[in-house]
Amino acid sequence: MTDPQIVLTERVQQALANAFGSEYADADPLIRPSQFADFQANVAMSLGKRLRRAPREVAQAIADQLADFPGTVEVSGPGFLNITLDPAWITAEATEMLADPRTGIGTATPPQRIVIDYSAPNAAKEMHVGHLRTTIVGDAMARIYEHLGSTVVRQNHLGDWGTPFGMLIEHLLDIGEEAAVAQLEAGQGTEYYQAARAKFDSDESFKTRSRQRVTTLQSGDPETMRLWHVFMEATIRYFNKVYEMLGVTLTDADIAGESMYNSMLEKTCDDLEAMGVAVMSEGALCLFPPGFTGSDDKPLPLIIRKSDGGYGYASTDMAAIRYRVDDLKADRILYVVGADQALHFRMVFAAAEQAGWLPDSVSAEHVQIGMMLGKDGRRFKTRSGESVKLMELLQEAVDRAGVIIADRGYDEETKGEIAHAVGMGAVKYADLSISHDSEYVFDFDRMLNFAGNTGPYMQYATARIRSIFRRAGVEPESARGPIVLGVPAERALALHLLGFGAVVDQVAALVEPHRLSAFLFETASLFSTFYEECPVLKEGVDAETRASRLALCALTLRVLETGLELLGVPVPDRM
Ligand code: ARG
Repeated sequence: MTDPQIVLTERVQQALANAFGSEYADADPLIRPSQFADFQANVAMSLGKRLRRAPREVAQAIADQLADFPGTVEVSGPGFLNITLDPAWITAEATEMLADPRTGIGTATPPQRIVIDYSAPNAAKEMHVGHLRTTIVGDAMARIYEHLGSTVVRQNHLGDWGTPFGMLIEHLLDIGEEAAVAQLEAGQGTEYYQAARAKFDSDESFKTRSRQRVTTLQSGDPETMRLWHVFMEATIRYFNKVYEMLGVTLTDADIAGESMYNSMLEKTCDDLEAMGVAVMSEGALCLFPPGFTGSDDKPLPLIIRKSDGGYGYASTDMAAIRYRVDDLKADRILYVVGADQALHFRMVFAAAEQAGWLPDSVSAEHVQIGMMLGKDGRRFKTRSGESVKLMELLQEAVDRAGVIIADRGYDEETKGEIAHAVGMGAVKYADLSISHDSEYVFDFDRMLNFAGNTGPYMQYATARIRSIFRRAGVEPESARGPIVLGVPAERALALHLLGFGAVVDQVAALVEPHRLSAFLFETASLFSTFYEECPVLKEGVDAETRASRLALCALTLRVLETGLELLGVPVPDRM
């Protein structure tokens, strides 16, 4: 089964080549959905100029080449082509799609190795709402590429190293391991950090101890490393609670934190210096990738070794990109990270190219994540101005969902499951339904709304179809059709469903999961119209129509459920 728009594009391009010569074979036929037909092709308008012929004439020449097309092609107005597909073609494709275990989704050819750097919270601080989006978007993309048959290597680039760890470890010694672990596991990393920071700023001896601890940590002193592990393990246990709550696919095996690169940093810097890509500037070892200048027109540096010999964020990312290309054998590397780091990544990619570490055959892409805003339009904070704890936020979503479904007559256990699915579905879908680089306002009322392009609406759409099958007393899997198209609402739904595979391909190519959400939302809307206009189980509906409509219901359900699963949005059976 094939996306009609792609089939049409190929057919019209073939017609162009036949009518005007092979040099026209890759002109864009400009196929768009139309209100007068299924589609319209506008290529004759632009081609007319190039060929110095009247667009209507050009359109007619194309139409003549499409005589054997499964449908009708009409020239209209100044030179539009109105294209209407044969219902038999649509039903054959839809029936095939229903029989296809992959529901029209293809496989990546050739399959790729895709490294996805996502989530990446910082250990010394509370995992904040900004990390929510990188986690959700990255995880959706990981699911999608795996479904397409590619190999995904998840890299959770935790902020687990750096000078703050000196004071964090000293604070751990002060309050005792047990108390520290309890606090960190409970997600009070911010409070822990703040307490350490306060001592650092006010207590000279603590400050001295902390600085010494940085040195012993960097030298790999066994006892200090043990304390660092105690700190990190407790922190990771908290991160895992969040991941579990969200239902994301990240595991401990995917952790590749900044500390992992420690042993590579020296060589990274030496190698860059030896090839002349890194140079000393004001005591620091710097990269000056071409094309980056500051406001003073001077080349912008990417510092990979500070004047005190220390390494930082850029050093680690230079080591990481080389590791991902050479050791992980990536074909494609996605960095799902806040948009505010755009300059950093552009410079890292440019420097890596300059060093020959990022060959043309490998693409590195920064998937920019827009900032999460509060209702006041500013960076999302609690009323008292602190950053919001992710776990509390997620729990609030579940609690609110629980209130919404409270009086639907489910037992406690079922209610808990549904509330969890609805709450997490709402939060995740909200992130996935808008383009990843746009800022957005975190708003429980909107994301938990059962109307509009929201998680609960999408979940409800699937639950509604499941209930049709329950009432019919048949399993969705047993609905085979054949599909026949009677009224326009059936035709519109079937035609739309055929585009599923193409949308998934597009999402994979562009890393834009919101296009899948938009497609699913349109699916649910078209289904609603279909269901209003086309009774399925009502008395008087003949057996053939009933079978066809049940098949359309089943295909819609499969598309919705598969799509939501690819996005990582949980789908409860009933709501
Ligand atoms: N820990 C960083 C932050 O919270 C994100 C790390 C992204 N990945 C990378 N390779 N730099 O902003």
